[in-house]
Amino acid sequence: MSKIILKNIATLYGVQQGHQPIRGNEMQDVPALQNAWVRAEHGFITDFGLMSQFPQIEDWTQLKIVDCEHRSVLPAFIDVHTHLVFAQNRSQEFRDRLKGRSYQEIAARGGGILNSANHIKQCSEDELYAAAKERLQDCIASGTCAIEIKSGYGLEWPEELKMLRVIYKLKLESAIPIKITFLAAHAIPKKWQTDTDGYVNYIITESIPQIAAQGFADYIDVFCEKGYFTPAQCARILECGINAGLKPRIHAEQLSHSGGTALGVKMHAVSVDHLEYCSDADIELLAHSKVMPVILPGAAFFLQLPSPPVRKMLQAGLPLVLASDYNPGSSPSGHMLEMMRLACITMGMQIEEAFNASTINAACTLNLQNQYGSIWPGKRMHLILTKPHWDLTRMIYEFSSNPIDEIIC
Ligand code: NIG
Ligand code: FE
Repeated sequence: MSKIILKNIATLYGVQQGHQPIRGNEMQDVPALQNAWVRAEHGFITDFGLMSQFPQIEDWTQLKIVDCEHRSVLPAFIDVHTHLVFAQNRSQEFRDRLKGRSYQEIAARGGGILNSANHIKQCSEDELYAAAKERLQDCIASGTCAIEIKSGYGLEWPEELKMLRVIYKLKLESAIPIKITFLAAHAIPKKWQTDTDGYVNYIITESIPQIAAQGFADYIDVFCEKGYFTPAQCARILECGINAGLKPRIHAEQLSHSGGTALGVKMHAVSVDHLEYCSDADIELLAHSKVMPVILPGAAFFLQLPSPPVRKMLQAGLPLVLASDYNPGSSPSGHMLEMMRLACITMGMQIEEAFNASTINAACTLNLQNQYGSIWPGKRMHLILTKPHWDLTRMIYEFSSNPIDEIIC
């Protein structure tokens, strides 16, 4: 069927043009219609309105009508930060953490990202692809309609290329848009342990020219953190990436105040992500920039990190974004609804703020705002249909439930 009308929608959420990020206090507002309809043709929304003004249907050819009967509709979520290509889980490290070892201690003993790097080496490209595809399908079923996926467990070029090829293949075959990030500097391989600058030189002279030649990445990312990469090293890598046509992003202020936010603002990064240790001065810098602050509640919860100062950020007028950070070490979940629940319950975000952060603001981060993130004529029809009698509040409140009846796309 090339045309569809959803009618008798209990509440239709996110009816706004949504071509700009929503900032600060404005994030508390989600325009919605009660008892509504929405119409789409060839996968694009053409119109919506109230049932009291339900249009006369003149052309019934190729038309499917869905009677929503007490069910609500919302635009599907956009996940702007994932590492969903990995070879194995790290459940043993989870057991170690439950016994009291910290994420950093485990990493210092050769676990953590280096552990995932070993797993990648031992895994064939086909196995890696099959596992990642299954995870991606699970994300789509949980309401994600566009996603970013990073490399970064390869560490050296041949293994990075293996990961990037897997992500590219997912992109070619996936039903949803995928943005690709070359995570150039994620951890220091064993053989470079005493020569981090040597490894940075390797990234700049070997990996970045190759990724530029391949041409399949959209973004370049770095982990700016004590024990990983300094702001100066990150700056060198990002500059080289920018010259190769990639847009910069930074893992910033996750485990300590590391200077990644200030660097991100200076380099006009697309986003700075994590921000648990973001300072007042960082917030001030972000408020005067176009850099999108991305909050990753799954990682903060799973590693029991302090909450990022989300209320201060909102008071300063920032356009917050939520993402899953789906990865085997710090956030083994790619469910955006869980991230919204964690943002509300553990970080003090309001339900409407979490919704805007996972839809419009997320779409703006990935430059998909013309197609995704709200219900508006011209945008793609990729919608979440709830079970009967569910609304946005109940979706967050019943924190372990599955409120999704159907994904319509
Ligand atoms: O975003 N912070 C760095 N990278 C990932 C974790 C990677 C891992 O532990 O495998 C993150 O949390
Ligand atoms: Fe990450």
